[in-house]
Amino acid sequence: MEVIKIEKQHLELIAKLHKENFSDEHTTFYLGEDLLKKYYKQFLNRQDIFFLGIEKNGRIVGIILGGDKDILAFCRKQFLENYKNLLMKDIIRSVLITPYFAYKLFYERIFLKFFYKEKIFDKINLENSYNILSIVVDKKERGKGLGKLLVDEFEKVCKENNKEYLTLSVRKSNKNAISFYKKVGFIPYKETNLGLYLYKKVI
Ligand SMILES: CC(C)(COP(=O)(O)OP(=O)(O)OC[C@H]1O[C@@H](n2cnc3c(N)ncnc32)[C@H](O)[C@@H]1OP(=O)(O)O)[C@@H](O)C(=O)NCCC(=O)NCCS
Repeated sequence: MEVIKIEKQHLELIAKLHKENFSDEHTTFYLGEDLLKKYYKQFLNRQDIFFLGIEKNGRIVGIILGGDKDILAFCRKQFLENYKNLLMKDIIRSVLITPYFAYKLFYERIFLKFFYKEKIFDKINLENSYNILSIVVDKKERGKGLGKLLVDEFEKVCKENNKEYLTLSVRKSNKNAISFYKKVGFIPYKETNLGLYLYKKVI
């Protein structure tokens, strides 16, 4: 088993890992594998973006993706712009197959947005930080320390780049991930309609 840098040739395996391991709580769950490949491709070979994986017997069993918050947002924006037609197709297909998706989209993105007031627990200055956009470990490999290994590796990247904090956001409904993040040292600092925001001091 080894920690590797994710490259173009791994994208197929990563799209599969994503599809099989993210629950329907995540909006990206509704994307097909082809679009997921395109999504992850946007983050390759970018300055200040780090994409690591754990390889075991020729399989990718875990990934972590993150880096500079603005560049991550730029990559996501580019994905939305470049593939809006394909995205629309996947979304319409999901709404037709899973009417719950349409309800969720309305309730979470429109209804809750207007009626939920943001809560700040800690007014910490997180200017000098890297952000984790995505972390996932294959279901069959969970509970063996791989998630912690990925976070540890990312902390090394932060230290090498003199970043004081590691930040991330997670859906409030994703109780498993929240327990995991707290266990590996993250502290909540903000809550919005959908998400809980956490940080960890690494330097
Ligand atoms: C969250 C996730 C990455 C954790 O990976 P993992 O490899 O199972 O985690 P680890 O084995 O490294 O666990 C590290 C610590 O967290 C604890 N932990 C992990 N999952 C937990 C859970 N669901 N509830 C409570 N504690 C948990 C472990 O017990 C361990 O503690 P220990 O060191 O005292 O034994 C994995 O569950 C996952 O891929 N989930 C689906 C994707 C996801 O939701 N990602 C996050 C949102 S972007």
